[in-house]
Amino acid sequence: MEQKSLKDQIDLNKLPEHIAIIMDGNGRWAKNQGKERVYGHHNGVKSVREVTEAGAELGVKYMTLYAFSTENWNRPQAEVTALMALLIHTIKDELPTLNKNKIRLQAIGNLSMLPEDAQTELQEAIDGTKDNDRMTLVLALSYSAKWEIIEAVKDIASRAKNGELDITDIDENTISNALNTKGMPDPELMIRTSGETRISNFLLWQLAYAELYFTRTFWPDFRKQHLYEAILNFQNRERRFGMISEQLVEE
Ligand code: FPP
Repeated sequence: MEQKSLKDQIDLNKLPEHIAIIMDGNGRWAKNQGKERVYGHHNGVKSVREVTEAGAELGVKYMTLYAFSTENWNRPQAEVTALMALLIHTIKDELPTLNKNKIRLQAIGNLSMLPEDAQTELQEAIDGTKDNDRMTLVLALSYSAKWEIIEAVKDIASRAKNGELDITDIDENTISNALNTKGMPDPELMIRTSGETRISNFLLWQLAYAELYFTRTFWPDFRKQHLYEAILNFQNRERRFGMISEQLVEE
């Protein structure tokens, strides 16, 4: 019998609605080839394109990519500057493709920390894609979950202080709605590349029930096939949890 391709093995009725990705390993990928770290970031953009395209083709509704953490500001100045320049160029260059594929761009994080030209470029792309409804691509920029939670607590506390909110009414929704990800479904699958097995301050509240998938592949090598593997792994775990053992044997 002919072997089904990875893509064809995916059950489209059981897709994760939201996939979050920690794109890790750009620097090591470049160093392994005797190149500067920034070379890895440049090559990482191709992987961003691939997973975005693959996610949209399958019918994934949300993808959140950890592009720059609050802690990344502490990297050498030259690398930070290069990453910001890359971000600006990439957003500008990819805007027509996002629109062509009906992808909406959004961003989470402390965006006011970004250089002004990056903020402008980002806002233009967010505004220019706001009516697209095939998939939402969320860039986490100058983002950390602890920062996001602190901001949410401040917001909730000030509403309670003003009398707009009764403390006894605070529930999961109050907190979810005070986070940057307000209105988005929580990710069901979180992928981290490069062999590191940490969450690193990414979506701490939102990942509460997510399946975590770690691969040794460095981000610049990550292609559509790797995304399919992660989704299949997710679906196999789901199937095991959802069924009784007799059903698994029948299959
Ligand atoms: C992690 O690898 C990667 C980053 C901190 C930056 C990711 C940015 C891109 C892929 C390009 C721009 C993205 C968009 C969405 C336009 P690392 O540098 O931590 O690698 P290492 O762990 O090997 O040092």
